[in-house]
Amino acid sequence: MPYQAPTGTADLLPEQAWRWDAIQRQAASVFSRYGYQLIDTPIFEQLDVFVRGIGEATDVVGKEMYLAFSQHAVEAIAAGQAPKAKDTLALRPEQTAGVARAVVQHNLVPPGGAAIKLWYAGSMFRHERPQKGRLREFHQIGTECLGAAEPSADAEVILMLMDFFEGLGIPRASMRLLVNSMGDDACRPAYRQVVREFILAHADGLCPECVRRADSNPLRAFDCKNPDCQAVLAAAPLITDSLCPQCAEHYATVRQLLTEAGCDFEQAPRLVRGLDYYTRTVFEVQVTDGLGSQNAIGGGGRYDKLLAEFGGKPTPGLGFAVGFERICLALDAAGVAAPVLPLPEVFVAAVDTQARAAAFALAGQLRSAGLRAELDHQNRSLKSQLKAADKSGASWVAILGPDELAAGQLTLRHLASHEEQRTTTQQAIELIRGER
Ligand code: HAM
Repeated sequence: MPYQAPTGTADLLPEQAWRWDAIQRQAASVFSRYGYQLIDTPIFEQLDVFVRGIGEATDVVGKEMYLAFSQHAVEAIAAGQAPKAKDTLALRPEQTAGVARAVVQHNLVPPGGAAIKLWYAGSMFRHERPQKGRLREFHQIGTECLGAAEPSADAEVILMLMDFFEGLGIPRASMRLLVNSMGDDACRPAYRQVVREFILAHADGLCPECVRRADSNPLRAFDCKNPDCQAVLAAAPLITDSLCPQCAEHYATVRQLLTEAGCDFEQAPRLVRGLDYYTRTVFEVQVTDGLGSQNAIGGGGRYDKLLAEFGGKPTPGLGFAVGFERICLALDAAGVAAPVLPLPEVFVAAVDTQARAAAFALAGQLRSAGLRAELDHQNRSLKSQLKAADKSGASWVAILGPDELAAGQLTLRHLASHEEQRTTTQQAIELIRGER
């Protein structure tokens, strides 16, 4: 095979593409009940949007970006010139930064205005080591709510996420909802300092990466997969013990609202998430079956400083994103069948060459009536057309031959019962519709 899809990417063949479509339809249905509207932003942005938005010291920006240069920029680089910032583009590793940029650019949340709720779906790109549930091009569905600071907004977003997953058929018992608060500018700097000191004091028992992070991004150490690091960090001070009174109260209200709504969750004081824009509430949903180590099917949180990074007025924000490929693994593990591809309802067969033009016209009439109609374009014999009809999954065959043409009718055969009858086109349409 001379060409294959690039490592870490996967073609969405029709069945999978249909599942992606079905999951987006479910998202549209659930999210619209909460007042969300669809938005789309470019697949690439100026690199700086991600650097400022997600944070230079994150793995996503520091190690996993796909840069995108136009030919023009490549020529400038080859000639020894640095490309302009506006020509230095990158494929989006996530869409929160792009949506925040768009909200500021179009002034979608004017000061004192109502909050805006947006959702999106599309491909994201991260140069990670591919493994089960981890791709370099993957598909996310995400939501962002801009302009709402109250903890009820956090609880609503989390409940909507669980509503969405349960609606897809992922059993509630197989999902763990983890929540934490990351604090804010008032309390996090001091906590970072405490963790930094803890890391330096325990450097002997930690991997070089964790020690290196002490200065750049100490909280990321909590995400280290090395079991020795995990054991050492188990004794590190917890953010929940360092929250300022405002953050502690915000977090307590979020938990109270979730509890009152009957939503089970676990407090996860070491959940820090991999993106630097978070303030206060963060959350993640992990599944216990079918995913191995890449078990987070969705996650998100609050980012009250992000819009100001893009030159907007200080505007609170929060949201989440879910991973399509991981949702599919979770659905497979739960035994939820993929939606069946829409099959033709009726196959139009021509008895001989003379009937082909009439068969072509009949297929057109059936489609105009809203039916899914298929016909042969390979000049096959009637016998082969009938075989093809069987294989196509259609329930009916409409047969046209010299007798039917002479009578201005067609023969309609029901494939399951083998019953057939002579009908007009209109009668056939009604019979087929009647069986839907
Ligand atoms: P994230 O946790 O980086 O958050 O990604 C969200 C979800 O995308 C993950 O839980 C996972 O299901 C899926 N995902 C991430 N990376 C991969 C990958 N390499 N392969 C397959 N699936 C993957 C965000 O992206 C934030 N923008 C979420 C957010 C929105 N926070 C606030 N608003």
